[in-house]
Amino acid sequence: MPQPRSPVPDFLFGTAWKEDRTPALTELALRMGFRAIDTANQRRHYFEEGVGQGLAAAYRAGLVTRADLFLQTKFTYQPGQDHRLPYDPAASLSVQVAQSMASSLDHLATGYVDSYLLHGPCSNQDWTDADIEVWEAMRQERDAGRTRLLGVSNVSLRHLQEMAAGRAELPAFVQNRCYARLGWDRAVRLFCQERKIIYQGFSLLTANQEVLRHPLIARLTSARLTTASLAASANATPAQVVFSFARTLGILPLTGTSDGEHMKQDLASRALTLPPDAVNAIESLAG
Ligand SMILES: NC(=O)c1ccc[n+]([C@@H]2O[C@H](COP(=O)([O-])OP(=O)(O)OC[C@H]3O[C@@H](n4cnc5c(N)ncnc54)[C@H](OP(=O)(O)O)[C@@H]3O)[C@@H](O)[C@H]2O)c1
Repeated sequence: MPQPRSPVPDFLFGTAWKEDRTPALTELALRMGFRAIDTANQRRHYFEEGVGQGLAAAYRAGLVTRADLFLQTKFTYQPGQDHRLPYDPAASLSVQVAQSMASSLDHLATGYVDSYLLHGPCSNQDWTDADIEVWEAMRQERDAGRTRLLGVSNVSLRHLQEMAAGRAELPAFVQNRCYARLGWDRAVRLFCQERKIIYQGFSLLTANQEVLRHPLIARLTSARLTTASLAASANATPAQVVFSFARTLGILPLTGTSDGEHMKQDLASRALTLPPDAVNAIESLAG
């Protein structure tokens, strides 16, 4: 089975809420240089089959091969779905995981995904018996070669601590919404750092509009006002500053853009280095 060139990517293109534009935007993202795609087998918010159509178009155009890509999808419990379920709701959770994975592989026309996430735990409070069953079923999918890595999403520090206390295998990835006002999810990020779990941050822009409008960010993006120590960031956009900042904190960012120019700009943020004083200032803007 072909393996991707890079085991873990440095930027994820998110495909939520793109509906009929999903195939074209997936192909465009690959054309612009993204090599990692995030989706979910949750028709309510994602059109996973459309992602597969975009991939197929990119393969046909000779843009990429499957081995160049990092594909990530998710298992979503029934309460997070609408009526378009990718599994039999009467089946056990273990069977639902197997059915959802089979359907994802079918949608994406691949024999394996690179990462498989639990979209969110069963309860907002605790890591429950349902999560234990689902996580075990996901481990079996991994052991059968249908995913290389496993992760969890929308988790609190408590969920992760309970996983660890139950001696569960810890995830390779945590994918969370990253609010500046919560110190950019500081507690969860620290838990991840200590255990070498890769933290993926989503809604870095949409969840942090006040940061994008903050005078500090304006200063960092303005060549006119840029001081010597901030010169590296001259001419960057606010979005680029936030993505660069996130990466400096060790966050693997996702972008949800639907715009070709923004795709280019988001990828170009990888070349932007913020000076440590700017990073500290942004980190303490809120939280
Ligand atoms: N696990 C979960 O429960 C979960 C939940 C939500 C999202 N996600 C994943 O995370 C992905 C991203 O989420 P998101 O859409 O909330 O993230 P986002 O990237 O914070 O938000 C996207 C918004 O930012 C704008 N944007 C992006 N790049 C820009 C740039 N360079 N300049 C100006 N504006 C820019 C986009 O506008 P334009 O389209 O005009 O560029 C769009 O309005 C989703 O697609 C999904 O894959 C996961």
